[in-house]
Amino acid sequence: MRFDLTEDQLMIQQTAKEFAESEIAPSAVERDKKAEFPAEIIRKLGELGFMGMMVSPQYGGAGLDTVSYVLAVKEISRVDASVGVIMSVNNSLVCYGLEKYGSDFIKDKYLKALASGEKLGAFALSEPEAGSDATQQKTTAEGNGSCYVLNGTKNWITNGQSADYFLVMATTDKSKGHKGISTFLVEKGTPGFDHGLKEDKLGIKSSDTCSLMFSNCSVPKENLVWEEGKGFNFAMDTLNGGRIGIAAQALGIAEASLEASVNYSKQRKAFGSPISDLQAIQFKIADMATKVDAARLLTLQAAALKDAHRKYYKEAAMAKLFASKAAVECALEAIQIHGGYGYVREYLVERYLRDAKITEIYEGTSEIQKIVISRAMLDQK
Ligand code: CAA
Repeated sequence: MRFDLTEDQLMIQQTAKEFAESEIAPSAVERDKKAEFPAEIIRKLGELGFMGMMVSPQYGGAGLDTVSYVLAVKEISRVDASVGVIMSVNNSLVCYGLEKYGSDFIKDKYLKALASGEKLGAFALSEPEAGSDATQQKTTAEGNGSCYVLNGTKNWITNGQSADYFLVMATTDKSKGHKGISTFLVEKGTPGFDHGLKEDKLGIKSSDTCSLMFSNCSVPKENLVWEEGKGFNFAMDTLNGGRIGIAAQALGIAEASLEASVNYSKQRKAFGSPISDLQAIQFKIADMATKVDAARLLTLQAAALKDAHRKYYKEAAMAKLFASKAAVECALEAIQIHGGYGYVREYLVERYLRDAKITEIYEGTSEIQKIVISRAMLDQK
């Protein structure tokens, strides 16, 4: 598979890069320290068309392809992975599924606002006892006249405090197992719906993560997305695309680690010359560059397959599995190359490591990606 980017894709990448460097980079360190949500940056990303990149213009989106989306998430995450995940959740986990499965009512009322960046979305699948084993949903949604009444708790929800609209998976028929799970769009401020405290995380600190609580929360029937019982399939289909977004985020972190290492090693002198003259450093750079390139190719492959309307779930899992590992390994090596300077906040590489780790956990842990890949290889799925 060849990856000659088109002029349009290169232009999107350049726009994302310039925006990241001029608008995101200057405040990234401070926002990480204060764990501050980048509200103004997200507003501007909306104006740029980056919050609904793959949504058709009819619904307020930019109508771009997945490859362009990957390039943009990568450039943004190269500078600040917190902004990368906020953007990725809105694009891949919220807008994508609403455009594919939402009713006209939902698309008009909610998707337009989400895709244009006027509103922010969140995706609520995980629960205290349903993480990797996502079929074990305990949150219930009981039909009651013109409403469904939701009860339960969701965990680890990215954009949990800042989002306006939430896609919530809940069980409508327990007897049917995963075929009894449905998806609902819930508005912030709906009575009976509240969020918990912001989690104090290791990394991606300026994105907010929290639990959500539903206590006799009435949601109008027209806010059911797709059909009753299709919620698990909805979540799985959505997560396939989400994994491409997280692979792109991880790729951005890996690239930033490599770049910082190249620059630092040329400046830092030891034993009478720049440390880049030492084979010990050169080999680290070679390994990092190889991992970055492999991660990039896998991520672009998954995106290109999705754009070509071909099966891509295995390739998306491979891209996420590989890119997230590459991000952690490259960030660790970047710290090693920086020595003591790598261990302090003044240099950015310690944040790269803190931010990288989550990419091996959310939107399916690395172990889950291996299940998806191995089942595809063994033709079980
Ligand atoms: N794509 C499409 N459909 C899929 C699928 C995939 N990758 N994986 C499973 N399915 C479908 C199956 O085809 C099956 O559908 P039918 O019943 O219609 O035939 C259904 O889902 C059930 O599949 P399985 O029998 O394979 O289910 P399982 O329980 O054995 O395993 C799993 C499924 C792959 C382990 C799944 O539970 C999984 O992906 N778990 C990880 C969950 C996850 O990624 N959570 C992330 C939380 S969201 C998040 O992090 C958001 C954030 O805020 C950043």
